[in-house]
Amino acid sequence: MLEVIAVLDRTASLGIATELGEVFAAAFAGEEHSDATHFATDQLPTHAGRDDFRLVAARDESVLGFAYGVTGWPGQWWSDRIAAAIPAELAAEWIGGHFEVVELAVIPEAQGRGLGAALMTALMDGLPHRKALLTTYVDDRAAPRLYRRLGWQVLVPDLGWGSALYGLDTGVLHGE
Ligand SMILES: CC(C)(COP(=O)(O)OP(=O)(O)OC[C@H]1O[C@@H](n2cnc3c(N)ncnc32)[C@H](O)[C@@H]1OP(=O)(O)O)[C@@H](O)C(=O)NCCC(=O)NCCS
Repeated sequence: MLEVIAVLDRTASLGIATELGEVFAAAFAGEEHSDATHFATDQLPTHAGRDDFRLVAARDESVLGFAYGVTGWPGQWWSDRIAAAIPAELAAEWIGGHFEVVELAVIPEAQGRGLGAALMTALMDGLPHRKALLTTYVDDRAAPRLYRRLGWQVLVPDLGWGSALYGLDTGVLHGE
């Protein structure tokens, strides 16, 4: 099976929104927010309109997984929610102009062979941002293990609602 990771702009991403929604729903099956239609018609279009939207997709005949992110700013729901939950100095250091990794998802059938790591590496490749942020599970699962393997650091192990805050100083990626 030949898998290719492609970087998609907002138009191309929205063009395959339905397929991405199906991947999203399969990856997050059983979780509260795992609705394919909501992802395709609401979440993705909202984020696709934000600064520096960038999506990477792994595909063979169909999409197997994807990751995307945007530049985050104070005044946005996610940034403000995180800022309110962490010490002010940490917020000042990390929030605002950071690259926010919003989603990473691989269909269950394609998991465990490196696609998640390849998607994250492709998503972060060449980003000009100095800092990147994401939230993930507090417990020991594939996703937090993957982020730590790729050099992300745990900034706050538990934000209070079952999520941990991870940060990446992208100087690490640039070899600085
Ligand atoms: C998190 C997620 C994207 C990881 O995708 P993935 O393609 O399975 O990721 P990888 O294959 O790179 O890594 C997963 C595991 O496979 C292992 N692996 C990778 N390539 C391998 C190979 N060739 N042979 C054996 N094992 C391999 C990795 O070491 C890793 O092991 P670990 O979980 O014990 O640390 C996927 O599990 C997923 O979609 N989960 C549900 C949604 C989710 O949690 N998203 C993130 C929200 S923050």
